[in-house]
Amino acid sequence: KADKFVDDLMKKMTIDEKIGQLNLVTAGETMTGSVVSTDVETKIKSGQIGGIFSMSTPTKIRKTQELAIKYSRLKIPLIFGIDVIHGYRTIFPIPLALAASWDMPLIEETARIAATEATADGIQWAFSPMVDISRDPRWGRISEGSGEDTYLGAKIATAMINGLQGGDLSSHHTMAACVKHFALYGASEAGRDYNSTDMSLHRMYNEYLPPYKAAVDAGVASVMTSFNDINGIPATANRWLLTEVLRKQWGFEGMVVSDYTSVNELIDHGLGDLQTVSALALQAGLDMDMVGEGFLHTLKHSLLQKKVTEQRINDACRNVLMLKYKLGLFEDPFRYCDEKRAKQQLFTESNRAKSREAATKTFVLLKNENKVLPLQKKGTVAVIGPLANTGANMPGTWSVSADHAQTLSLVDGMKEVMGDQVQILTHLGSNLLTDHAYQERATMFGRTIPRDERPEAEIIEEALTVAKEADVIIAALGESSEMSGESSSRTDLQIPKTQQNLLKALLKTDKPVVLVLFTGRPLTLTWEQENVPAILNVWFGGTETGKAVADVLFGDINPSGKITATFPKNVGQIPLYYAHKNTGRPLSNAPWFQKFKSNYLDVDNAPLYPFGYGLSYTKFDYSEIVLDRQRLSPDGEIKASVTITNSGEYDGEEVVQLYIQDVVASITRPVKELKGFQKIFLKKGANQTVSFTLTEDDLKFYNTDLKYTTEPGEFKVYIGTNSADTKTATFTLDPRTLH
Ligand code: IFM
Repeated sequence: KADKFVDDLMKKMTIDEKIGQLNLVTAGETMTGSVVSTDVETKIKSGQIGGIFSMSTPTKIRKTQELAIKYSRLKIPLIFGIDVIHGYRTIFPIPLALAASWDMPLIEETARIAATEATADGIQWAFSPMVDISRDPRWGRISEGSGEDTYLGAKIATAMINGLQGGDLSSHHTMAACVKHFALYGASEAGRDYNSTDMSLHRMYNEYLPPYKAAVDAGVASVMTSFNDINGIPATANRWLLTEVLRKQWGFEGMVVSDYTSVNELIDHGLGDLQTVSALALQAGLDMDMVGEGFLHTLKHSLLQKKVTEQRINDACRNVLMLKYKLGLFEDPFRYCDEKRAKQQLFTESNRAKSREAATKTFVLLKNENKVLPLQKKGTVAVIGPLANTGANMPGTWSVSADHAQTLSLVDGMKEVMGDQVQILTHLGSNLLTDHAYQERATMFGRTIPRDERPEAEIIEEALTVAKEADVIIAALGESSEMSGESSSRTDLQIPKTQQNLLKALLKTDKPVVLVLFTGRPLTLTWEQENVPAILNVWFGGTETGKAVADVLFGDINPSGKITATFPKNVGQIPLYYAHKNTGRPLSNAPWFQKFKSNYLDVDNAPLYPFGYGLSYTKFDYSEIVLDRQRLSPDGEIKASVTITNSGEYDGEEVVQLYIQDVVASITRPVKELKGFQKIFLKKGANQTVSFTLTEDDLKFYNTDLKYTTEPGEFKVYIGTNSADTKTATFTLDPRTLH
């Protein structure tokens, strides 16, 4: 039915109208680059626009849609898309934090709530999820993805798409997802945003591409190309990527959109003028041009000059129209424009409660010496630091539809939760950054943090007089929300110097100090780990961060988050990730330093906190692994079990992680690869046996011919509380016998 409808419609369309469908323009609301669309109204009326970028509210969207429906010749509805990254109006923790929950139903639910809110506000298309694997915390956008792991990244991609699309795109509570950024954006050289990538094919297929493929397998409606080049060809003009891999190998049938002006940026990549690059992008397999209007202004000319084919224009137009059809826009272009619904379904009490619950599940307890935490619900607490009193920074980066004015600061959130039980004092303590200009770059989009221009020592002295009144000091330090995210790469990943100076002064008071760390990326906390008694990483926890932090600090909720990106000891160790190769000169089981082994002179190889690490107020003990057999036949299964005992003093949740190692193979394989995890809840004193079933599929990899296969032989299985602290067992995969 859809095919016939779109075929019939396309028969009536002129080539100009078809090219018009490929044009996604901004009406000037959110900009992350140069805005080139002008005279949007006239263009809509004359069929030169297929979709609108970053517009919201049913009223505005209805008015804009009316221009297409009332005045354009064929009355083709517009599609409205926006970044719905970690919530819409109710903001959930940033994606890197959500990943730390290891809770797929929760992640799916946050995406479903985001879709309900966004569609209630008139929007049908989310530029999400971002599934770029990144092993470089210098890259600011590591905050927007699920971290360094391929397996976990693929699971989260699926959960996000299920949440956003809900299995039925025609429902007006679900929206089209757009997996991004295709591809390898997270591998940009030196962690500098938009930079080049250059990678072997087997690394791509084994480590970086699986989350995008998982999104395609989950039925994602659209794909966004990335800004970077890949082995010499920018993704937006990369025919191999967009046609061979995406369409032919993976069978993707949806629509492909560029990133913001990424077609125009091909000029700066050095591929030619606007006409040339637009033709290259279209022929490579790009369907829709985000904001740049290169397609609009040049494709007809290129067609006449035979630089693009009519077939490709038709295919691209069909992909756009099919998406609109699936969203039900032809049936009713105004189906998402219900002002009453918008009033009822945005920022509801229940959505905010879910956000608070989600936040508590993402916090990672990095250190808790002498059980400083949880705090007692009495006495006086001093919350000191530049991140103590800013509501606008709590939602985190890419929360474009948040109402920052409605987000409580850490101090206000804590006060609301604790009421009269605890007296809360506060002080700025230090500036966010010493350098004024750096602070301005780090507090954009209205996320300002007050500055105090007095000498640092004077500010700290004043903060100490407040701190001395308290029984416990909470140091609210780290990054502002805009110190991570797009175009926020950093080369120094320490807590900024001026904040460190404050922390050192607070530690000298001899009061218990808890570092409540705000960050969008792994930081190098080597000094803090050595010197601060307790560290709770709260990332950017969304709308309800302040209350959620109180829930965890005062013990109503036991933290269970585990980091999904390795925290290095210093920037020089980057890229540092658990699933590395062994090398021919590994430093295994040997003391650092060893001459002529793969190590550094000045720091050992181990991370500060390994992938999967996170503490709890309680303690979980792991038994040895029990395998139900020693040999796995190709069509069989093997069960690996451990018993976990909660031997501490609190009920709590634990993420039990399973890794494998392919000991001998035709290509070098990682020392460990995550292949399973289970999140369990154990009452204090209780135990539970957790079993994982492995099949041959779990042992597959892409070999040098890019064949997805297994190789028989020895495998190790590791189960533990994080990637470094595991129990081990060994089994053998039998060869497939020929009959
Ligand atoms: O979706 C984003 C993308 O992640 C980065 N560039 C801008 C796009 C649209 O806002």
